[in-house]
Amino acid sequence: MAKKKKVLVLNGPNLNLLGKRQPEIYGRLTLEQINRRIQALAKELGVEVEVRHSNSEGELVGWIQDAPKQFGAIVINPAAYTHSSVAIRDAITAAGIPTVEVHISNIYKREEFRRYSYVAAAAVGQITGFGVESYMLGLRAAVAQL
Ligand code: DQA
Repeated sequence: MAKKKKVLVLNGPNLNLLGKRQPEIYGRLTLEQINRRIQALAKELGVEVEVRHSNSEGELVGWIQDAPKQFGAIVINPAAYTHSSVAIRDAITAAGIPTVEVHISNIYKREEFRRYSYVAAAAVGQITGFGVESYMLGLRAAVAQL
């Protein structure tokens, strides 16, 4: 499939614990189950999606740097790095492909420190607070940018 039709979905630290991690905030689906839903929607939308997870900021930065070679857009849940990572923000800006920021929880409804996203200004837009549906909305938004 042409690069333009491919979307890279990235997950940041601790999202591998979904399902057991604070289910009252993040729900009971595992990352694996969410990935299956993303792939089902991708099929429906006629796009190829690759989903990756890393607990490491450097690995995420590397993937974002390389993304334009293979992908036309990125969907990213930077998790805790949302609130700390200038490196991820700069990598998104440098990559120069449309990027959609997603969060399962509503980051504006929680602790004060979660209200600032370093990533937001580098993204086309942000989807926050719709549970796992945030990923599906994010994928639709990214596909609209292709
Ligand atoms: C999160 C929100 C972040 O504040 C938090 O650090 C996460 C998950 C979300 O999807 O709601 O790990 O990005």
